[in-house]
Amino acid sequence: MSGEPNRPITDLLPDQRERAVPVILDSFVGIYRWHAKRTLRMATEVRAIEHDGRVVAVSMLELLVPEAGYVYYLAVARDQRREGLGSALLDDALHRFRSAGAEVVYAAAEEDNVASIGLFRSRGFRLVERKEVGFREGGLGAWGLRSRMRIVHGEVLLGLRLAPHRGPRQSSL
Ligand SMILES: CC(C)(COP(=O)(O)OP(=O)(O)OC[C@H]1O[C@@H](n2cnc3c(N)ncnc32)[C@H](O)[C@@H]1OP(=O)(O)O)[C@@H](O)C(=O)NCCC(=O)NCCS
Repeated sequence: MSGEPNRPITDLLPDQRERAVPVILDSFVGIYRWHAKRTLRMATEVRAIEHDGRVVAVSMLELLVPEAGYVYYLAVARDQRREGLGSALLDDALHRFRSAGAEVVYAAAEEDNVASIGLFRSRGFRLVERKEVGFREGGLGAWGLRSRMRIVHGEVLLGLRLAPHRGPRQSSL
């Protein structure tokens, strides 16, 4: 992997997010394009890398529950790929989810998206089986979360454990 390391990653606040639309148009077609644009406006956190004043890479992040982070979308402008920007945004996402106390992180990818699956695998993600033990029981099964991830036919779910399950939170009452 080549490229310039340590390009700054910044938050795109809601009123700045339209600036990431060109990357989405460059990266997705059809229903994904529509959904990525919608998610861009609605995601809790949108992180971006800029080059020459334009957004060239973007991630959309959400905590689905306190223990589980979700990388909704990750996209890099076509002319900037294979330079480590996707990895930088994914590392940033993992850092933020870990700091927020998440125990697992998920991402969905089309089953034939070699680049995306390769990127997530390079950071330790693995395929999550539909019937596997849930993330609160030590596995990566995403019981109760899949509908919020909006996984569609032809997509696979990838997951990574960040920390062991800490058990139910104690009530302070
Ligand atoms: C997936 C995507 C974000 C990767 O971004 P990127 O900046 O090119 O990725 P990186 O340069 O950081 O690559 C990191 C690793 O991912 C894997 N990878 C990336 N692109 C790949 C490709 N075309 N083929 C195979 N593996 C690939 C490799 O393991 C790579 O490490 P390496 O370069 O040392 O071999 C980019 O291809 C993209 O925007 N695709 C369109 C949108 C999309 O499908 N997003 C993912 C689903 S939300």
